[in-house]
Amino acid sequence: MASSTHMMGSLALGIICLIIVNAIAVAGEQRRLLAESVYDITKYGAKGDGKTDDAMAFVQAFKAGCEGKTPAKIVVPPGTFMMGEVILRGPCKAPPPLIIDIQGTILANPDPSSYSNRMWILVEYVDNVKISGGGTLNGQGANAWKYAGETNHMPVSFTFQSSSNGDISDLKFVDAMGFHSKLIDSYNIKVTKMTITAPDESPNTDGIHLSNATNVEITDSFIGTGDDCISIGTGSKNILVKNIKCGPGHGLAVGSLGKRPDELSVGNITFSSCTLTGTTNGARIKTYHKSPVLTATTIIFEDLTLNDVKNPVLIDQHYFSKTEPEQSSVKISDVHFRRIKGTTISKIPVLLNCSKKVPCSDIELADIDLKPVGDAKSVSSVCESVVGLKTSGVLNPPPPQC
Ligand SMILES: *[C@@H]1O[C@H](CO)[C@@H](O)[C@H](O)[C@H]1NC(C)=O
Ligand SMILES: *[C@@H]1O[C@H](CO)[C@@H](O)[C@H](O)[C@H]1NC(C)=O
Ligand SMILES: *[C@@H]1O[C@H](CO)[C@@H](O)[C@H](O)[C@H]1NC(C)=O
Repeated sequence: MASSTHMMGSLALGIICLIIVNAIAVAGEQRRLLAESVYDITKYGAKGDGKTDDAMAFVQAFKAGCEGKTPAKIVVPPGTFMMGEVILRGPCKAPPPLIIDIQGTILANPDPSSYSNRMWILVEYVDNVKISGGGTLNGQGANAWKYAGETNHMPVSFTFQSSSNGDISDLKFVDAMGFHSKLIDSYNIKVTKMTITAPDESPNTDGIHLSNATNVEITDSFIGTGDDCISIGTGSKNILVKNIKCGPGHGLAVGSLGKRPDELSVGNITFSSCTLTGTTNGARIKTYHKSPVLTATTIIFEDLTLNDVKNPVLIDQHYFSKTEPEQSSVKISDVHFRRIKGTTISKIPVLLNCSKKVPCSDIELADIDLKPVGDAKSVSSVCESVVGLKTSGVLNPPPPQC
């Protein structure tokens, strides 16, 4: 009797605690709502007729919010806004987080020469920012693609630079002139629920590119472009890519690395639970032949489902340098390709082509099952300059003799 009263007592206390905790959470939310100031770009002169350049209105609304004393939400409302170069630069004074809520569609000025720094929308020096809203950034790249080339990079649609603690979610990037998005010199970033699309034949339209980015999670997104869905470049560390649907495009990549003399090493990169469809590569690491001394270590590609992929497992240390005798100085080690299954259109779906100068070491192939489709009647694997290859589980194709 006594104990049951006691129990009822604790239960009641528990419920009261729950209510209080809940009330505090709601109060916190309401405090923010009450104090939050909304900066709608149409209040700063945006026309939203799809023709007038509304870039300055976005910049002015951002400035007002960024410099305010209350938590700020900058809003691009539903509608169609045309904008040229947009630079959203902090640091901000407003109490964090800063919210950028893009609900409408933003169309880029399609003239690539109108961008001073080959960037369309740039967010920089803004810490603690949430960018979301379900809206669309349309780069209108079709006109620019014919001018794109190795030495002529087209404007990146969305650049997130020198900013920490960022949340980027629920946005659509369409038809970028160059890369769709770049995360540069930044840390603690979550990217989720993104949809990135451009035609198969659009050149250099990488979905998400990382450069000197640390502690980054990219999850639950769809990316189909004319180049890499996700590429992880110089200096990037502690990266998790999970639950991505990729294709068309050039697949998931670490690299390219070693093109420029000032590049930094990369490490602790995981690609997990991704599905690739009709891509030219699956899991790829690519480095240039003539490179600074770098390392690329602790890289995991796991639980990938591939549909009609050309080069499912590829280490290419002769990237863009097929005929060059000089070998890469990027040392690749501790790489795991595991649980990679599906279909391939290549006769050599597993190709580990490493540097003669610094061979790859500690490479693992585990549970790889790739069935040939189309012209690829049978499959095999090949390796060059690999030491300490570890293999386990089902391997189809059979492991290479290194
Ligand atoms: C890399 O990014 C960090 C910020 O995360 C920055 O402090 C550092 O200067 C950057 N390094 C280079 C070489 O740009
Ligand atoms: C490796 O990166 C993951 C994020 O993917 C992070 O959680 C983990 O702490 C990192 N490990 C090390 C040793 O830094
Ligand atoms: C590695 O790539 C180089 C450059 O393309 C090529 O000459 C060589 O045959 C390749 N090695 C293998 C084993 O495929």
